[in-house]
Amino acid sequence: MLAQPHYIREYRRLLRNLRKTSASETEALERAVGGSYEATGKTQAKLVLDLVTEGPVHLIDVGCGSGRLAYALRDEARVSYSGFDILPDLIAHAEKMCDRPDWRFEPISSLALPVEDATGDIVVFMSVFTHLKPAEIRTYLAEAVRILKPGGYIAASYFDADDPKHAELFPPTPVQYLARIFGRDVLRIRLRRNELETWMKEAGLVLERALTDGPLLQHVMIARKPVEAASQ
Ligand SMILES: C[S@@+](CC[C@H](N)C(=O)[O-])C[C@H]1O[C@@H](n2cnc3c(N)ncnc32)[C@H](O)[C@@H]1O
Repeated sequence: MLAQPHYIREYRRLLRNLRKTSASETEALERAVGGSYEATGKTQAKLVLDLVTEGPVHLIDVGCGSGRLAYALRDEARVSYSGFDILPDLIAHAEKMCDRPDWRFEPISSLALPVEDATGDIVVFMSVFTHLKPAEIRTYLAEAVRILKPGGYIAASYFDADDPKHAELFPPTPVQYLARIFGRDVLRIRLRRNELETWMKEAGLVLERALTDGPLLQHVMIARKPVEAASQ
């Protein structure tokens, strides 16, 4: 049997530990995405809706978890939504919370997204690159470019290695520090902004802006798929 990808192993372990220290299953599922379920969801929803302010929008939420963003958007008739996550229990909670039978919630087990080419208006990775290795982030960026319509947006949040506030948030434990030397346990890892910018440009994206002082705990990089990619 093939070994499970590290991100599934590591996130399963995190959820297992949260279940031991939560008063209820719902609390564990909501803590697994960082807690502050409704407030953070609303902040994420505003960020997304501000990118495309009118007309129908197909939003693809990669690593949607237990549905913070989806729940905040559930009354938006103009949004059609596809949410993917590696943990089926989180996805099931997201689906139950939203009660939108027209929306898609689907577990995934690899970095290949089950979405047709050029069908998304916005692809979001909220607090997902914080758990992946550089090569995996680059794979996801290529997937985002593939599934975005020309002119579509990507919004990706990350902990910035150069922001002292982020350094204080989740300092690696000694065990984690050692594990990382061997390429293991990258949960809540920090990135450098210029690394992410370089990977985005290499993927063919055009950088729009970085949000570095908003209400989210992380910075958010916004980029677009160029319109001229339509004829490639
Ligand atoms: C901190 S949570 C954030 C969830 C959601 N985006 C939010 O902001 O509420 C990180 C999520 O990423 C998911 N995840 C981790 N690795 C992933 C991967 N390779 N592909 C998709 N989702 C992944 C986890 O299962 C978890 O739900």
